[in-house]
Amino acid sequence: MRIVFFSDIHGNLEALEAVLKDIESQNIERIYCLGDLVGYGPQPQEVVQRIRDLKIPTIMGNYDDAIGYEKKSCGCAYNPGRETEVGDESLNWSITNTSAAAKEFLRSLPHTLEFEEEGVKFLLVHGSPVDHLLEYIRPDTSSERLQKVLERVKADVVVNGHTHLPMVRWAMGKLVFNDGSVGRPKDGNPKACYLIIDVVQQSISYEFRRVEYDVKSTVEKITEVGLPAELGLVLVLGKGYEMGQSKSKNTIDFKI
Ligand SMILES: [Fe+2]
Repeated sequence: MRIVFFSDIHGNLEALEAVLKDIESQNIERIYCLGDLVGYGPQPQEVVQRIRDLKIPTIMGNYDDAIGYEKKSCGCAYNPGRETEVGDESLNWSITNTSAAAKEFLRSLPHTLEFEEEGVKFLLVHGSPVDHLLEYIRPDTSSERLQKVLERVKADVVVNGHTHLPMVRWAMGKLVFNDGSVGRPKDGNPKACYLIIDVVQQSISYEFRRVEYDVKSTVEKITEVGLPAELGLVLVLGKGYEMGQSKSKNTIDFKI
């Protein structure tokens, strides 16, 4: 059984379309989406519609929650200063440019999904098993913390999103994957990322697929709709960057 997991599309329709096209060539039987359809990118409405049309089982990410409920914050761990300004601007823009029906869909998403395939139990959650929307399980999360969040988990395989960093770790007799990010990778590789897990008679193999897409077109759309240019820079670099603490919206000190 070949299963796709993807997440963190963040309003980047070009990246989503490229991933969906790549999936067609991979002999896939099931697809799951681990949330954050919206936020940051220029086409939140179109991304929600595409996922709905395809009827892909989807769980809620912190951005789906923030935009669905029109919250003032996504709960992200931003640095104070310009990073917070960009985050707030993008969140407010996404709230304004997402329909009531799309918001209703985002609010309807479950926090977790569980299923069993060929004797292997899966748990899908955007953040962590104990903090579904906000906790980051990163490659450098301590073993102690990882063990703590897995304490009550009955599944054999946990798949997360949220960090935008593809990852696989082993703890408490369980495999913990992060499926990376379709629309806003942060591991230094700007190509869209998704995860394939192949389960055959309780044995598991996996592959992180990296898919080229038209980054330039997405960056142009970011500018066209009036979103902050820094959002495009993250897509070009495939990672975040440190910004100076400038108060002016037009002055940015990049330290890449
Ligand atoms: Fe995200």
